[in-house]
Amino acid sequence: MQTDSSFTFVLFGGTGDLAMRKILPALFEAHRAGGMLADSGKIVAVARHVADRAAYIDWVNEHVKPHVSKNGVDETAWASFLDRIEFVKIDLGNPEDFTLLRDALSGRPGIRVFYLATGPSLFVPICRALASVGLNENSRIVLEKPLGYDLKSSNAINDAVGEIFAEEQIYRIDHYLGKEPVQNLLALRFGNVLFEPLWRREWVESIQITIAEELGVEARGDFYDNTGALRDMVQNHLLQLLSIVAMEPPHSMDSDSVRDEKLRVLRALKPIDPRDIGKVAVRGQYHAGVIRGSAVPAYATEPGVKTDSTTETFVAVKVEIENWRWAGVPFFLRTGKRLADRVAEIVVNFRAVPHSALGASALRGGANRLVIRLQPNETIRLYCLAKQPGEGMNLASVHLDLAFDRFFREGQMEAYQRLLLDVINGRLALFVRRDEQEAAWRWVEPILNEWAAANKPPKPYAAGTWGPAAASAMLAQHGTCWLEEEN
Ligand code: BG6
Repeated sequence: MQTDSSFTFVLFGGTGDLAMRKILPALFEAHRAGGMLADSGKIVAVARHVADRAAYIDWVNEHVKPHVSKNGVDETAWASFLDRIEFVKIDLGNPEDFTLLRDALSGRPGIRVFYLATGPSLFVPICRALASVGLNENSRIVLEKPLGYDLKSSNAINDAVGEIFAEEQIYRIDHYLGKEPVQNLLALRFGNVLFEPLWRREWVESIQITIAEELGVEARGDFYDNTGALRDMVQNHLLQLLSIVAMEPPHSMDSDSVRDEKLRVLRALKPIDPRDIGKVAVRGQYHAGVIRGSAVPAYATEPGVKTDSTTETFVAVKVEIENWRWAGVPFFLRTGKRLADRVAEIVVNFRAVPHSALGASALRGGANRLVIRLQPNETIRLYCLAKQPGEGMNLASVHLDLAFDRFFREGQMEAYQRLLLDVINGRLALFVRRDEQEAAWRWVEPILNEWAAANKPPKPYAAGTWGPAAASAMLAQHGTCWLEEEN
């Protein structure tokens, strides 16, 4: 991906967690790879609590360097990367400071990218301050999730930002869309004839999408306690994955064809009747437990979390899609912190054969199953029944295994690297359009409201387990179980 388009990448929240762990390491990787970033491209970090460029570079050396290149840092590349970095000290509470930014950017070639790695409450003030000094022209703005707290607050932000920037200038990040295996889902579905004819209600019994984490809330207790798993993971990452799994084949891969199809799915989600929420949604909160032999504390004792918090760290929810392809097929979405394993995967359970001459085992639903493991270790596994060797006709489950690292050893790109390059190069396809975001908020809102009104504590689960038992009971009602509960 050779480029000569110059750019200035302005990073608000220049000393934040995201800048440190994701954004600057991703820019470094793009720089190190060579040819991906124009030589003249610059990074302008914006922060309040740092005195000057020298102090910022010290911070980058101390905090960012440990997060780059697992196999050691290429020192020559690191030094030339630091040469790209400039610094402007701005107090975001003081719009007049933005004249300093305007002066720093004046006369530079190429596109300006403003990356808002800040809390959403700062999105609108920053956009207004940028406009007040004329910096909304020839620019793109990147908004990190969560964008708002509910439909109303998200609309308020989108309205205000939309008065300053056109929709084509707004890049709403959902980093799951930048992950290689998520891209690969599109290739699997639309690059092969094998799956598509079976990818519908006639042949699919149920679908599970899980994003499980072993990590807890780390240093983000304060943020997380006001957010919870439904807003943090379901409204965005899980519903985006669902829309890619369920969408119709797009006409092309241009930015709007794919997003139009995803939007159709999001708009077809069956609204949840508030009276049914107890049946179709489970929320949990982790208590103390053990993960891989180490004791971990309860959520309510994590720094920044209220001791009587009712915030959910686990959600399992049943989703239905009201269209001809998917009517009646349950999609079970699940995410949680401090679960037994770190895994993101999609499980497509196919229906049983309509008649079996081979005995009852072939009549069991789910005998054919496609398991798409997104992380860690991207694999696709297709389960089939086969005859066990020896006398008689006894069937056993076997699988075809596709491990991507056997085919592609090089060239994997981190999600943030891909997405940042897309912003710099003006490619919108992997960013969430406003209408998609609204549809997703609209669907989760009854659950948010009902949980807030009920004011009941979430169901407890021990850290290191797969969440509350109610999540398994929900699937049992549909005659199925989570993948790890098989056998
Ligand atoms: C983020 C959430 O969007 O995604 C975090 O805010 C979560 O809470 C993270 O840990 C998970 O992303 P990944 O790429 O590690 O699966």
